[in-house]
Amino acid sequence: MSENTPIVDIRNATVYRGETRVFDGLTLTIPGAGSTAILGPNGAGKSTLLKLLMREIHPVVMDGSHVKVFGRDRWVITELRARLGVVSNELQVRYSPGAMGLNVALSGFYSSIGTWGHQSFSKEQLDEADRIMDRLGILHLKEKPLARMSTGEQRRFLLARALINNPDTLILDEPTSGLDVPATFHYLGIIRDLIAEGRQLVLVTHHLHEIPPEVDHVVTIRQGRVMHAGPKAEVLTEANLKELFSTDLQIVRQDGWYQVLPA
Ligand SMILES: Nc1ncnc2c1ncn2[C@@H]1O[C@H](COP(=O)(O)OP(=O)(O)O)[C@@H](O)[C@H]1O
Ligand SMILES: [Mg+2]
Repeated sequence: MSENTPIVDIRNATVYRGETRVFDGLTLTIPGAGSTAILGPNGAGKSTLLKLLMREIHPVVMDGSHVKVFGRDRWVITELRARLGVVSNELQVRYSPGAMGLNVALSGFYSSIGTWGHQSFSKEQLDEADRIMDRLGILHLKEKPLARMSTGEQRRFLLARALINNPDTLILDEPTSGLDVPATFHYLGIIRDLIAEGRQLVLVTHHLHEIPPEVDHVVTIRQGRVMHAGPKAEVLTEANLKELFSTDLQIVRQDGWYQVLPA
């Protein structure tokens, strides 16, 4: 695959969730070089877009419509899961409170929720899990159940799970939601390191301040429609964000970070 093959290339996709038509003829490309943030208000369709990318849901079959991930419209799902590491709150709440940290991390090898008796792990896999947990500062928690960890610690185990197949692309759905200030900063620091070592991010958020300076592209969506897509500095303007959030606001920029304040 060339570096320029888009992560996802969506053409004219109509997508339902239950009775709700979330996308009606969505066309969107997430570039294959650099990291992308997807920004939009609650209910815009951001998580649905990620599910489309992960092939957990599919568009209505129509001529001239496709969803190509890394240039392909067919995937063996386990192969795709190994290339895309995902962290979302939805994934986090699917784990049983009794799941042990180590098992959450190891479950990434099978892209499963939790581990099961029939799954076995080699010494190499166990060492790799330890190495990643150590890097994320959670090795000492590996025998603790999720229920006895803070939300920030739980989120780091989810990231360990996502990293275990060494994916070059990480899909993060509101990764700092529910985290306090130190946990948010810690998480953002890890994310920046992951980009610095050459991984690409697709980061979904409704918070401007969790878009790290290293993110190159921004896509804004509202009510299932792409409003703007392009280089970060061109998309994150006051005019665009007022329209996106239907609210008067001002943008503050510092050291590559953005924040919105009331106008
Ligand atoms: N499982 C579902 N069944 C029916 N409608 C859903 C489901 N999940 C999401 N929706 C609807 O799809 C729309 C987009 O949701 P979502 O992609 O979760 O938005 P976001 O992540 O941007 O907040 C919303 O109107 C939401 O109510
Ligand atoms: Mg969402």
